[in-house]
Amino acid sequence: MTFAALNLLLDQRHSCRAFQRDPVPKAQIEQILSSAMRVPSWCNAQPWKVVVTSGDDTDTFREALQIEAATGTPAPDLPFPSSYSGVYQDRRRACGWALYEAVGIEKGDRAASARQMMENFSLFGAPHCAIISSPTELGAYGAMDCGGFVTAFSLAAQALGIATIPQAAVAAYGPFLHRYFKIPDDRLILCAISFGYPDAEHPANAFRTERASVEEIVDWRG
Ligand SMILES: Cc1cc2nc3c(=O)[nH]c(=O)nc-3n(C[C@H](O)[C@H](O)[C@H](O)COP(=O)(O)O)c2cc1C
Repeated sequence: MTFAALNLLLDQRHSCRAFQRDPVPKAQIEQILSSAMRVPSWCNAQPWKVVVTSGDDTDTFREALQIEAATGTPAPDLPFPSSYSGVYQDRRRACGWALYEAVGIEKGDRAASARQMMENFSLFGAPHCAIISSPTELGAYGAMDCGGFVTAFSLAAQALGIATIPQAAVAAYGPFLHRYFKIPDDRLILCAISFGYPDAEHPANAFRTERASVEEIVDWRG
């Protein structure tokens, strides 16, 4: 029963790229945070801190971020992957193409794909954005612990009918985010999570990504 319930949530969750404007009640956001915080972390350090925007604050941030993305230079606190090769490149392309196909962007239409990419900076219309950071001194393991937090946040939200999308694209503008939200320089900004009620009719939400088989990822010994 518990396993089935967990798998149902895992199946239902997907990255949402079009939201309704209605706000999520603060009590529900608190519930999501309280659930997400139960994930394990090395030494129980609980490295995550979260800025959560609502209402006008989301809209003001959205506008400032769009300007930053149009005029600024990407400088993420945590370096982005240097390359994707082999199966990683294949999977990256497949999810990109699935999105483009869903929203009607032809292969090779760079202007249209750039416009779709820019949707990241309007937070896909979400009424809320969470900015996740971890202490720099905890390094990669702090970031790893926060990855668990991001996943649990998304699943807890899903359990309440609230859709999410983790966004590294937002974290690309690290210095801007530190300034804008007064996040101290001894913390690494890892990603954003835009969230709210999904616009289920929007074509950007009409596709689902695939996963490799267990046999592709496991190396059984014994
Ligand atoms: C750490 C992280 C960062 C991500 N950043 C972005 C992003 O900037 N923009 C975006 O559209 N999707 C982003 N995603 C969503 C992934 O593309 C998505 O999780 C993946 O394609 C699997 O699809 P699903 O979440 O719908 O299952 C990110 C996901 C993670 C976990």
